[in-house]
Amino acid sequence: MLETERLILRNWRPEDRRPFAAMNADPTVMDFPGPLGRRESDAEIDDFLRRWRVDGYCFAAIERREDGAFLGMAGIARCDMDLPFCPCVEIGWRLARAHWGRGYATEAARGWLDHGFATLGLDEIVAFTDPGNRRSLAVMERLGMRRDTGRDFEHPALPAGHALRPHVLYSARRDGGAAG
Ligand SMILES: CC(C)(COP(=O)(O)OP(=O)(O)OC[C@H]1O[C@@H](n2cnc3c(N)ncnc32)[C@H](O)[C@@H]1OP(=O)(O)O)[C@@H](O)C(=O)NCCC(=O)NCCS
Repeated sequence: MLETERLILRNWRPEDRRPFAAMNADPTVMDFPGPLGRRESDAEIDDFLRRWRVDGYCFAAIERREDGAFLGMAGIARCDMDLPFCPCVEIGWRLARAHWGRGYATEAARGWLDHGFATLGLDEIVAFTDPGNRRSLAVMERLGMRRDTGRDFEHPALPAGHALRPHVLYSARRDGGAAG
């Protein structure tokens, strides 16, 4: 479990499943890969729990310290897609719509970057999204991550020609040096 100024970043609990599913059913939150049903949402949590057991980290729950509210998820995860820059460790975030605009995603991500570099000793953590995801790109920029155009890619989970298939990659390094 990690703590930041306003947040607790922790492993998943049974009571998170309902608000996680509500967030994942919201099409404004889930334009990629699209809104999830309850079963798919629960399967994501099952996968996160498995990754926590195997790797010691995963995309984790975000709880607000002040009142215990479930805000969404953020975390780091091993990424093994069939792409030249894999395996790597990626950082990701997703907040329920009611909690956008308060800096929670950036604060949670900073906590995870610090943990990944200072505690886990990772050399690099990457983030990627489709170039139209302005809010996610803004989180990467606020974190000081650097765009690495040489590692932009086509997301293998989407068919050729899909509007969201092209992805841009940002990098953060433990030594703070240039990407790549
Ligand atoms: C991506 C996502 C998590 C970003 O959420 P967000 O609320 O825009 O990002 P943050 O939580 O960092 O908040 C930043 C905003 O809060 C404001 N803010 C308020 N208080 C703040 C504080 N204490 N610290 C930092 N920012 C603060 C910032 O000015 C910024 O506002 P702006 O967007 O009007 O410029 C959210 O849009 C989301 O869940 N999208 C759907 C899922 C998704 O796309 N995930 C990424 C897939 S790659």
